[in-house]
Amino acid sequence: MPRGKKAEKAEKKVSKKKDEIKEYIKKAKEHFGKILEEQVKRLEEIQKQEDFIDYSKVKPIIIGVMGGDGIGPFITSEAQRVLEHLLKDEIEKGKVEFRVIEGLTIEKRVEEMRPIPLKVEEEMKKCHVLLKGPTTTPRKGDPWPNIESANVAMRKILDLFANVRPVRVPSEGIDWIFFRENTEDVYALGPYGIEALPGLAIDFKMITRPGSERIIRLAFEHAKKTGKNRVTAVTKANVVKTTDGLFLETFYNIAKEYPDIQADDWYIDIMTAKLVDPKRRTEFQVFVTPNLYGDILTDEAAEFQGGVGTAGAANIGKRYAMFEAIHGSAPRMVQEGRTQYADPSSMIKAGAMLLEHIGYVDLAKKLNMALEICGQYERKLVVTGRPTGATGRAFCDYILETLADPRLEERWNEYQEKAMKKE
Ligand code: IPM
Ligand code: MG
Repeated sequence: MPRGKKAEKAEKKVSKKKDEIKEYIKKAKEHFGKILEEQVKRLEEIQKQEDFIDYSKVKPIIIGVMGGDGIGPFITSEAQRVLEHLLKDEIEKGKVEFRVIEGLTIEKRVEEMRPIPLKVEEEMKKCHVLLKGPTTTPRKGDPWPNIESANVAMRKILDLFANVRPVRVPSEGIDWIFFRENTEDVYALGPYGIEALPGLAIDFKMITRPGSERIIRLAFEHAKKTGKNRVTAVTKANVVKTTDGLFLETFYNIAKEYPDIQADDWYIDIMTAKLVDPKRRTEFQVFVTPNLYGDILTDEAAEFQGGVGTAGAANIGKRYAMFEAIHGSAPRMVQEGRTQYADPSSMIKAGAMLLEHIGYVDLAKKLNMALEICGQYERKLVVTGRPTGATGRAFCDYILETLADPRLEERWNEYQEKAMKKE
């Protein structure tokens, strides 16, 4: 081939490649445009929202129960047993109603190729609050198709913007509560990332001012209501400048409305380190964070309390609220035949948070005391996740027995005082 022809061919190849790239970029721009249009709609919805529902005016308060996958149905039904026991009178009076919603399983979700099966979505919207077991979340490469997490979808569909996670270890002086934003950040657009060009993948991180305001305000309001005097924001605003920057700016703006509460902020890396520093960590009280940092930090925090199996979470919105464990569905435990040894404490803790949220503050307090006596102080039965420990059912019976003790509060106080002295 003459040299000229060869060069011409090479040039054509380059320009073909350039055209291809142009086409990819055009598609990516369209994709991003659609995302923005959707998010503008979402912002308008947030701004239209009414105030929090008043449960004292709702009759009956409908509690939907969804077992989920893996160990989920087992630990959820134990938690339901405790709640039904505590709410017996209210159920009889018709003030509270339990409704079991079937079908939030990975098999059903895959069959419908939806993060939440349609029927389940319909049913859950008829409830006020939900007690939800852990659900399996597929990821790229798993045998399941890579559908969106049921948790994340539910948080978005019901606009459960606050993920509230308490962690308490009185003997170590730890008394923390995390307010994790639950509907934005990398989670919001998790399924909408694109491999814009072959080998060049982009995900989107989104944080909005109204979305940040509502979670940050809730954290400060909680501090004010419970007499705490410090709220700490956790971000990575030195690197992730725009989105985390907006969150942090909003944080300090709202902090001005609460002059009696100290506001400070830490970066996620040093914060994870400080949580393992026994001298410093006891200073922290209330945390507020964007979604992903909150996800990571709360697993770490729960570890001090006895692991993720002991930690419950409230997912709170203005109309709905959902209560769950902070851990996953533990499919390995099921495969290995260890389901009955799964720890129901996380779901029972979620149940205590549910009680408090719908106004049964005294019942919640009792249940929290029983959980601490059984799980942290007395530990007559210990759940290890294996046949070396108690079954979840036996542990739940232990909690019910402890609840029945007329000296429950005294007993808890005695343990609490002892623990403080040790410290
Ligand atoms: C949690 C879980 C979920 C999350 C998973 C299961 C999607 O880790 O509730 O913290 O990342 O939010
Ligand atoms: Mg998590």
